[in-house]
This record gives sequence, structure tokens and C-alpha cells, in this order.
Amino acid sequence: HIYGPDRVNSAGTNLHINSQIEPFMQNVQQYLDNQWHAKPIIDGKEITTNEEAVFCPYDNTHQIGTVHKVSEELALEALTIAHKNFIAWDMTPVEQRAQILEKIADVFEENEAELIALCSRDGGKTMQDGIDEVREAVDFCRYYANNARKDFGQEITLPGPTGESNHLYLQGRGVFACISPWNFPLAIFTGQVVAALVAGNTVLAKPADQTTLVAYRAVQLMHQAGVPTSVLQFVPCRGSTFGKVVLSDIRIAGVAFTGSTSTAQTINRTLATRDGMLSPLIAETGGQNAMIVDSSALPEQVVADVIQSAFTSAGQRCSALRVLYVQEDVADRILEVLSGAMQELKLGDPTDLSTDVGPVIDAVAREELAGHVEQLRATGNLIAETPMPAGLEKGCFLAPTAFFINHINDLTQEWFGPILHVIKYKSKELDQVIDQINGYGFGLTLGIHSRNESTATYIDKRARVGNVYINRNMIGATVGVQPFGGQGLSGTGPKAGGPFYLHRFATEHTRTNNT
Ligand code: NAD
Ligand code: ALA
Repeated sequence: HIYGPDRVNSAGTNLHINSQIEPFMQNVQQYLDNQWHAKPIIDGKEITTNEEAVFCPYDNTHQIGTVHKVSEELALEALTIAHKNFIAWDMTPVEQRAQILEKIADVFEENEAELIALCSRDGGKTMQDGIDEVREAVDFCRYYANNARKDFGQEITLPGPTGESNHLYLQGRGVFACISPWNFPLAIFTGQVVAALVAGNTVLAKPADQTTLVAYRAVQLMHQAGVPTSVLQFVPCRGSTFGKVVLSDIRIAGVAFTGSTSTAQTINRTLATRDGMLSPLIAETGGQNAMIVDSSALPEQVVADVIQSAFTSAGQRCSALRVLYVQEDVADRILEVLSGAMQELKLGDPTDLSTDVGPVIDAVAREELAGHVEQLRATGNLIAETPMPAGLEKGCFLAPTAFFINHINDLTQEWFGPILHVIKYKSKELDQVIDQINGYGFGLTLGIHSRNESTATYIDKRARVGNVYINRNMIGATVGVQPFGGQGLSGTGPKAGGPFYLHRFATEHTRTNNT
């Protein structure tokens, strides 16, 4: 069965078309000097608490606004409101909920320039990444609206004896906690929230600390688009506070979480120790993603795809390439081309269209990643390093690097930045390579470069990962085209942007009627 096409993905701005560039940049520039002030939004009221200053990852001296966080009492008040309003929202016709999502998509598109400026200022996103954030958020809204009409708009009629009718339909679960990461501050935040809402749940939205400003603006626009203020509560706070106070409450009927594996495990434990509702956890987590390149692959194409997969968004994508396995016969040629290409990458101001690699999210991340780079450098196994231009000292910049390592197990964690690890293998070792990747435990993305179709098919079938990409880059899954999500340590399975995602936010209800 082919799902779609009953909707088209958002076109966004195309930065390869000259005539689109100038108006786009003029629109975005209007917002780059804005100050944004994020506050909790509870029952439609914006609440002032303690103010914290927010600075830009590109320039740590540039304040871009302030954030106010919820106290424990306010978080519980938000939960009480969401809980009280669940039944009425779940009984709202799905068509009405779907239309609200479509309106959110329109409002996001109308506010594209501000949202892109905000993603760049708050999250360090390049202009292309900002465009992709808005497009993906818009696509989630329209895609889930359509799916909700199909999934929630009709009852399934089941057989039964004469005089009895049997029907099955989907209902919302209750209050969903939506917890998002900073690396897709608009797209993932929006995807979780609108999926939960359209399935009939009320929502407590908890953004990442680092990108609360983006999420706040998104919630304002969602309310403007018609999401009732009674059903969507915005509760910025520290993750540990949210876990302790909100997730431990038995009124939480489900959790949609995207972030690190260790946080997902903590949330699992919190839910498991509650003496109450058995609530599902939808977890989309990290990866130790590999690409396997055999000797039939085309070196130039491989390198273009490796560069994109490892260094786009400064390597801060869960889907990003971390470990490149390259067959030894072609390794020298590929690594030579790769080194050359890495010299050409440009680090810099993410609002400058010529920038390839912007900053990492904050100073803490930069220091951790730099420590890993120094450890690798000490082994003498550096393959290539992008030059760091002068003048970026105020930002959280880390130059892309590539190093040889011996084994994937040498990596003690997911290094969430522009660092590529390379392993050479012999052709007879292909099975060992696949075993090593599977054995590591993550299962998010895998790239394959081979012009030998049977090799690609063999690897694909053996790989225990959520998304395989053959002879292309391995990032930027498109909504409704590459449903995205992993297995094992990478998540509990449902695919964002896929046809079955909304089912995870719902419960199945059977009605038997003795007529
Ligand atoms: P993180 O786990 O540190 O934080 C994610 C969210 O969880 C944040 O909102 C944080 O405040 C919250 N949180 C932290 N502790 C919590 C607790 N005890 N209870 C409840 N919530 C808590 O992750 P991050 O650094 O924001 O994001 C990067 C990670 O996200 C990487 O591991 C990346 O691979 C992963 N990621 C996965 C996907 C995917 O689709 N699989 C997509 C994007 C990012
Ligand atoms: N969906 C994001 C990507 O594929 C994580 O890069």
C-alpha cells in the first residue's frame, strides 16, 4: 500500500535559486536583532517567574532574550488544567482538530522568517537548517492532520452474531508529556505536540533548556492558530524537575520523548515506579551511526555524502554519521578526497549564507567534544581537520575533524558534534563489520555506499537499525517519505512522520452493542 500522495511537503525557500535569496535574507534580517522573552503559558496566561538571560551560541556575549521557568507548583497547576480539559478535547470532532493543525502549518509558513531567525539565534542553526526546521514542522502538521482523519475519523466495523454490532475506534489517552531536545528546536518540538493533540490528548510541552525561546514562540503561534489554551500548556523547566514533579504524577497518561538514551532510561524508571496508570513511553533517542563503503563505490559521491552526513548542523543530528567503515582497497583515495573537501568547509556565522558549519549548542558541549578531539589527536591518528578561521572566539565553535579508530567499541558514548571516526576493513570482514555495528546496541541510521546491489541488499537485511540509506547521505529524513526512528538503544520504535505514529498516542476502544 502506498500512503499518499494526498498532501505535498512544504516547498520552503530554495537557496539555490538566486531570485529567492535576497528577499529571504531581507525578511530574516528584520528579526536578527530581536529580543525574545519566553514565559510559561498556563491556561493561556503568560506567567512571570525568575528571569534568566539567554545568549547566542554564535556569540556568547550577545544576549538574545530571557527565559522564565515554571516552579514545581506551577508545573502541577498546568497538569491539573490539562487533566481537567482532556475529555472535552478528546470528544472534539477529529476534523476540527485536523483543521487546527493545518492552520498551524499556515501560520508557521507566514512567520517563517522570524522562526528561522530564532532557530539561528537560539539554536545556532544555519539558514539552510532553519529553512528545513520550518519545513519539517509544517510537514508534520499537515501529515498528522491527514493521518488523523484516516485513523480517528472512522470506526472499524467488526463481525458479530445477528443482533450484535461490534466496532473498534481510537481514543486519546489523556495528558501527554512532550519532552524535546535542542537540536531540532522547532521541528521535533512541534511534531510531538501536534501528534499528541490531534490524537485527542491534552499536552504539557517541556522544551529543551537550551532552546526554550523557539518553543515558546511556536506555542504562541499554535494558540494563535486555534489550539485551545486549555489543552496545550507550556512548561519550561529543568529536565530533572519535570521528571521528578510531573512524570511521577499518575495523571500523566503518556510521554513522547526525544533526546539521549540515558534520559529515556531515567524516564522509563520514573514511570515504572509510579503506583498508578501504566503509561507508554515513546522514546526517540541517540545513535552511533555508521556508513559502510565498499570498493565498488564512487569516491566523489561517497565524500559528498560523508561530508553532509557527518558535518551538517555541526554534526548535531541524531541521524549523523559517526563511524565510517571504508574497504581498504579504496580507503586511500576516499580519504584523500575527504581531506581535500574538509579543507574547503567554512565555519562561521550561521546567518551568513556561505557558512557550512555553525557553532555547537553551548560551551559545555564544546568543551566535552574538544576533550574527545584532544584524546583522539594524542593517538596520532588525525586524518583531516577543517581550518578554524580567526574571529570566532566568542562562539562555541569546533572545527570538523576525522580520525582513525580501531573499533566502534573504542567510542564510549555518542559524540554529538562534527567528529568523524574512520575504520578500514578488508572485503572478507564485511560480516564482522555488520556484527560490530549491530553489537554496539544503538540502531538509528546506517549508510551504505556500494554499486553492487546484492551487497547493499545483504547489508540492509542484516542491519538492526531504523533507517538505511543506500548511495546517498543519511540525514534529513522527509516527513511521509522516510518515516524516522530507531530501535534498540535508539528508541522504542514508532516512526515520526510515518503512517503508524499517531497510533502510539491513542488507545483502542471496542464497543459491542446488543441491538
Ligand atoms: P537530553 O536527553 O539531554 O534532553 C532531552 C530533553 O529531556 C530535554 O528537554 C531535557 O530537559 C529533558 N530531560 C532531561 N532530564 C530529564 C528527566 N530526568 N526527566 C524528564 N526530562 C528530562 O538530550 P539533548 O541533549 O537535548 O538532545 C540530544 C540527544 O537527542 C542526542 O542523544 C540525540 O541523538 C537525541 N536525538 C534523537 C532524535 C531521534 O529522533 N532519535 C532526534 C533528535 C535528537
Ligand atoms: N529527522 C532528522 C534527520 O533525519 C533527525 O536528520
